[in-house]
Amino acid sequence: MRTADVLRDTKIHSVAQESSNIRSLFFQDEASLSAAPGQFVMVWLPGAGEFPMSLSLPSRKGLASIAVKAMGVGSEILYAARQGDYLGMRGPYGKAFQLGSEKSRASERVLLVGGGTGMVPMIVLAKALSKTAVSAMMVIGAKKMDELPFLDLSKKIVGTRNVFPTTDDGSYGFKGLAHEKVRELVAMYKFDEIFSCGPEKMMVQVFRIAESNHIPVQFSLERIMKCGIAICGSCTIGDIVLCKDGPVLDSRQLASLGNEFGLLHRDMTGALRPL
Ligand SMILES: Cc1cc2nc3c(=O)[nH]c(=O)nc-3n(C[C@H](O)[C@H](O)[C@H](O)COP(=O)(O)OP(=O)(O)OC[C@H]3O[C@@H](n4cnc5c(N)ncnc54)[C@H](O)[C@@H]3O)c2cc1C
Ligand code: FES
Repeated sequence: MRTADVLRDTKIHSVAQESSNIRSLFFQDEASLSAAPGQFVMVWLPGAGEFPMSLSLPSRKGLASIAVKAMGVGSEILYAARQGDYLGMRGPYGKAFQLGSEKSRASERVLLVGGGTGMVPMIVLAKALSKTAVSAMMVIGAKKMDELPFLDLSKKIVGTRNVFPTTDDGSYGFKGLAHEKVRELVAMYKFDEIFSCGPEKMMVQVFRIAESNHIPVQFSLERIMKCGIAICGSCTIGDIVLCKDGPVLDSRQLASLGNEFGLLHRDMTGALRPL
C-alpha cells in the first residue's frame, strides 16, 4: 500500500491567522511535504468530518500545512481546531499543476489568479515558480481588505509590484471583481499561461477571457470528495473524476465540461444542483 493511502494521525503543531476568516494549521507529515503544487489531502477531524484540503506551504521548521476557511458546519469545527488537536490524514492525492521543463519556460510570463482558500494552491505554485526563470504576476480577490489571504507572503514571493489585490468594496487595491483586473492585465501584458483557483463563478469568467485571448490555462476545481481515490463517484464532473483526473484541469478538459463548469455541482447525495 502506498503511504498516501494509509490513514495517518498527526497533531496540530501550531495555528496562524492568514486573514479574518482563514487559518493555517501546521502539522508533521512527511507524505504531505512530498506533495506537488495543487495536490490535496483528505483531512479528518473527529466530530467535524473528512474534507479534501489543498496542501499549503510548509513552515520553515519543515511542518506541512493546510489553510481552512469557516464556511459550514464541518469547516467551522476544523477552523476552530487548536494546537495539540489530532487530525487524521490521507493523501496527497490528485493531479498537480504541470510546470513544464525549465528550458521551455525560460522566457515565460504567467498569471496566477486566486480567491479565498483558492489562494492556497496559488501560493504553493508561486513558490515553485519562484525557483524557475518564469516571471509570475498574481491577482488576489476578496470581498474586502481583511479577507485577502496571504497578501504579504505573495508580495514576498512574486514581488510587490507583481501582486494585484482586488476587493469588491474597494477597501484595498483594485475596486471590483478579480476577473475584471485579469481582463485589464491581459490587455497590457502577454501571458503564456493562466493558473487559477477560487470561486467557480470567478474561474468561469477568467476562462472566458483566456479563451478569447488564446491563453492556455490550468485551473483547480472543487467538488464533494468522499473517497479521494476514484471509487465513490461523488466528485464526477462531466466525464472527469476530479479526485484522480484533477483537481487541476487544463483548457481542453475545462472546455469539455460545458454547463457543468460554473453552473452545476453534485450535492452529498450525488444529485446535480445549481452552484
Ligand atoms: C480539491 C479540494 C481542495 C480544497 N481545499 C480547501 C482548502 O484549502 N481550504 C478550505 O477551507 N477548503 C478547501 N476545500 C473545500 C472543503 O473541502 C469543504 O468543501 C469546505 O470546507 C466546506 O465544508 P463545510 O463544513 O462548510 O461543509 P458543510 O456544507 O457544512 O458540510 C457538512 C459536511 O459535509 C462534508 N463535506 C463538505 N464539503 C465537502 C467536500 N468538498 N468533500 C467531501 N465532503 C465534504 C464534511 O464532512 C462536512 O462536515 C477544498 C475542496 C476540494 C475539493
Ligand atoms: S471522491 Fe470518490 S471518486 Fe472522487
